[in-house]
Amino acid sequence: MARKKRKKRLRLKPKVARFLIYFIFFIIMGIYTINESRKIIADFKYRETYEYKITEKGYKLEEAKKLIEILPDEKLNYILDNEYNEMYYNIVSQKYYLNKNFEKYIQYKEYHEDTSYEDVIAIVNVHANAGWYNESYETNINDGFLIIVNKFYHLDKSYERTDLQNINLAYAYANNSAAEIVIKKFKQMRDDIEEEMNVHLMVNSSYRSYEDQEEIYNEFKKVSLKYADSYAARPGYSEHQTGLAIDITSLEHPTANEFKESEEYKWLKENCHKYGFVLRYPEGKEHITGYSTESWHFRYVGEEAATQIYKENITFDEYYAYYIEK
Ligand code: DAL
Ligand code: ZN
Repeated sequence: MARKKRKKRLRLKPKVARFLIYFIFFIIMGIYTINESRKIIADFKYRETYEYKITEKGYKLEEAKKLIEILPDEKLNYILDNEYNEMYYNIVSQKYYLNKNFEKYIQYKEYHEDTSYEDVIAIVNVHANAGWYNESYETNINDGFLIIVNKFYHLDKSYERTDLQNINLAYAYANNSAAEIVIKKFKQMRDDIEEEMNVHLMVNSSYRSYEDQEEIYNEFKKVSLKYADSYAARPGYSEHQTGLAIDITSLEHPTANEFKESEEYKWLKENCHKYGFVLRYPEGKEHITGYSTESWHFRYVGEEAATQIYKENITFDEYYAYYIEK
């Protein structure tokens, strides 16, 4: 005979059941309250952050993040102390932005509204905001092939490289000398272009002493000061004194005007970096270099820097300001 199984039902006493219900209720309420408090504290803390304060000013979250990433506290506070202005973000997000110039960029942009942000950064970085020759610094002669000489950095009157060598008359006009490496690299470049295009590059001018430059500048000045300052450096401010600059044309196109239109000039613009040279005063960069475009003036800076300058389409002045001087 089958035995009936009797199921035992678990029955809680009403008191225990009530206790359990209250207990669970309080646990849930407790967890909820802790979570809410955490949220309130987190929210309170967030309101203290730059991210909150800057977005509250009207900047987008992405913009605020970028500003915080780049700017030190004192500059973030400057932004918070001022009304929303898209200029701040536009300046800070430029590729060649440097914190040390923050105030100068702002000042320059305020006075030159039509100048692009990219140009504002470049102009200020190279000191051109001061006006040509209005500020003058001693060049760091320990920068090797990256020594800068421009309208803001000058060489001492007596500065002269110790490795100057005469340039062979096969590829230079008389009385030309330059740093050993410059001659070596120019020769390689000359051989390669000759092989490729059957043209013959020539060095017109290379190392010039302070006195040589003074003479040249004074000759140019006879036309006008403006003309002189567009094409010739004042003594002490010429790259030619470094022994690293050479003026190039070709036997086939000996004048500057002919050379500018020649195939060899095009070739040089695209290839000279492989030999460590840069076209020093390119077209469209007059506001950065301070000189009218010179299709003949090439400067040796070494292959690495020359390639970077070429790829980034910047001048040596900009390169120096951003990567060397900082
Ligand atoms: N022509 C260049 C600028 C010089 O005189 O150095
Ligand atoms: Zn030159």
